[in-house]
Amino acid sequence: MKIACVQINCRFMERERNLRRALQLIAGERADLYVLPELFTSGYLFTSMDEVRAAAEPVPDGPTCQALAEACQRHSCHIVAGLAEQAGPLVFNSSVLFGPTGYLATYRKIHLFDEEKLWFAAGDQPFAVHDIGPAKLGMMICFDWIFPESMRSLALAGADIVCHSANLVLPYCQNAMTTRCLENGVFAVTANRIGSDRRGTKSLHFTGASQITGPRGEVLAQAGKLVEEIRVVAIDPFKARDKWLNSRNNLLQDRRPDSYRLNDRTD
Ligand code: ACM
Repeated sequence: MKIACVQINCRFMERERNLRRALQLIAGERADLYVLPELFTSGYLFTSMDEVRAAAEPVPDGPTCQALAEACQRHSCHIVAGLAEQAGPLVFNSSVLFGPTGYLATYRKIHLFDEEKLWFAAGDQPFAVHDIGPAKLGMMICFDWIFPESMRSLALAGADIVCHSANLVLPYCQNAMTTRCLENGVFAVTANRIGSDRRGTKSLHFTGASQITGPRGEVLAQAGKLVEEIRVVAIDPFKARDKWLNSRNNLLQDRRPDSYRLNDRTD
């Protein structure tokens, strides 16, 4: 199975351009699964709720979803991509999953970062896994990485590959993903963006270096920090089903949830 991270510069509110650029990169390199950045059609640095609403699209009937569905049918592939999802009065920071037969699933970002809390509703559904035949896919978005529970939930639900659409602004994630993948024995595709959003007095720079990470924490591919590019890696997703580190230690079976007291504090 070939998996790909698609790294572009998502220009603010230039939906057609951003979509065209992502689809050009997809058409240029054959893969079975492509992961695109978070909010890839709209850009990230919103300054009002009106802008967020203007960027948001219904799922799966909006124009970006339709273009993704067509691309999956044309290239006989799966695509995970981040976009602002209009859902009644709410807008979610979501990832959508499409395959050759059309729409498959949506993930709504659970752990919102910084000003995202002003614009987006927090995800209202638990982490879930989707069986696409050659592999089981989980989705999470950007800042979800800093909570180990995100990838652990996906691993416990059987994910082989974590599709991680991102707009990273902090310098920690790429290194941290090696540990996230190692501790859960899964593959991850972190598709980040490059460039900056500058809006009035605010600006944010995005760190690129999109990364495909293996189940023993190997960096299988990493994109540059400043260029639009696609990186493709051939993997055996079944390697993620072997959770044994040695003959006595299993990453999931050796957990001791009774000792963790995870729900003691809610403050
Ligand atoms: C982020 O979650 N986009 C930093």
